Amino acid sequence: MKVLNYGSLNYDYVYAVDHMVSEGETLSSLSMETHLGGKGLNQSIALTKAGATVYHGGMVGEDGDQLLEASRSFGVHTDFITRHPGRSGHAIIQVTPKGENGILLYQGANGKNSEEKIDQVLSAFGEEDILLLQNEINLLGSIIDKAYEKHMKIVLNPSPLNATLLKCDLKKVSLFILNEVEGEQLTGESEPEKILKRMEILYPASEVVLTLGKQGSIYAGKGKRCRGKSFSVPAVDTTAAGDTYTGYFLASVLQGKSIEESIRTASAASAIAVTRKGAVPSIPERKEVEAFLNKYL
Ligand code: RIB
Repeated sequence: MKVLNYGSLNYDYVYAVDHMVSEGETLSSLSMETHLGGKGLNQSIALTKAGATVYHGGMVGEDGDQLLEASRSFGVHTDFITRHPGRSGHAIIQVTPKGENGILLYQGANGKNSEEKIDQVLSAFGEEDILLLQNEINLLGSIIDKAYEKHMKIVLNPSPLNATLLKCDLKKVSLFILNEVEGEQLTGESEPEKILKRMEILYPASEVVLTLGKQGSIYAGKGKRCRGKSFSVPAVDTTAAGDTYTGYFLASVLQGKSIEESIRTASAASAIAVTRKGAVPSIPERKEVEAFLNKYL
């Protein structure tokens, strides 16, 4: 069983601000840092740090050396990452003193996947393999359709949730990992229980993990329901907390851990990520997650 994460790789330009810039406003930032990120890359690195073997599919631009080198340095397999003329994807991220963020994306090379490229990547995987996806690349619907035809298990973090994502055949998704904002966008419901009930009606064959920030997270699927709490930590930067959760949750499940334990591990990993700046640099090592959890035993 192999894990293919077909997703974005970004350079993140992170600006500390005392509040989010508003329409018509010109705001001076307090500092600026460049980090590596992209929901795809963050999730691949979270998976590898959690102990999974990951093949990353995607595209970088002519400026993509750092993204490729970093992926390799963390043990992510990069054979399915292709270079494309032009720039890699990037994100302009504002972070407030409370650790909240606002993100502006430039898709760059992440938007240059082709049907041929998808076929070439998927040809190396089969029905026993897992495909993890987010929504920062082009041709997402085609990847879902083609992977489904190959009977791959599709795990989707539907982020960011937009009209393109809603056009995909989401009934083909085996496991959704989403937050309550995405849950509301998908179902029209705002209460967690109602979101989960509606998800069950819309996607009866799918499992769902709904993350609720400080209220923890809930798993629903296979006739089972299970809730885990979040850990209270001082927030520095919430960027990539959801990606860290997704990578750690999936890795734990693939390692044969129970859903309860996987939720607990993922919640601890994302709590640590929140206490650190940046996307990729905030993702903890597995040992750190274990030490964190031991404090709460
Ligand atoms: O989820 C966080 C990520 O969203 C950032 O790393 C940024 O690149 C955007 O894709």
